[in-house]
Amino acid sequence: MHPMLSRLESDHQRMLKMLYTLNAEVSKFYGLHRGKADVDTILSILDYIQVYPEKWHHPIEDILFAHLAQHPLADQHAIAEVQRDHQRLEALSDRLVQIFGELRLAQSKAGLSVIRLCKHYYTRQISHIHDERRLFLDAEKMLTADQWQRIEDEIEHYLDQEAIDERDAYLALLRQPQSASSTATTVHESRK
Ligand SMILES: [Fe+2]
Ligand SMILES: [Fe+2]
Repeated sequence: MHPMLSRLESDHQRMLKMLYTLNAEVSKFYGLHRGKADVDTILSILDYIQVYPEKWHHPIEDILFAHLAQHPLADQHAIAEVQRDHQRLEALSDRLVQIFGELRLAQSKAGLSVIRLCKHYYTRQISHIHDERRLFLDAEKMLTADQWQRIEDEIEHYLDQEAIDERDAYLALLRQPQSASSTATTVHESRK
């Protein structure tokens, strides 16, 4: 796998762990998982899902997909859909952060409509990752060494050393969930 795709895939692995924990936490609101749902944990996970992809993951994928779209055999429909997803998912993340922020302030439980929205969000995020994995396979097959070089140059221009340092510092402060059912928090430490 091209190193850039490996990096994006490791972002996906981290994102999936976050999503499993988010789903398990939200499930506590209706008794599917034991324990009391922790809104702080939910907000911490949403903080990650909101910040990291928006700043360091989606922009790289957008550059990659724009190049892939120039290939005559590329799946134009799938590429346009994942690009649109980036905006939709970012808007959904913002909405959930706002909702859970208000629930924390009011110290109230999530109602059925919020739980449904979380489930929708969870499903959409996961299917987005699956769609992108298919496009990554296409990129491996279709892009030439020259095209990869142009993509890397563009990404380097977008993600300068300062941005890389900022990303690495953000990740260093992140604690991973132990498992989807873990009650251990997935927390970005700076939120604590
Ligand atoms: Fe994406
Ligand atoms: Fe992605």
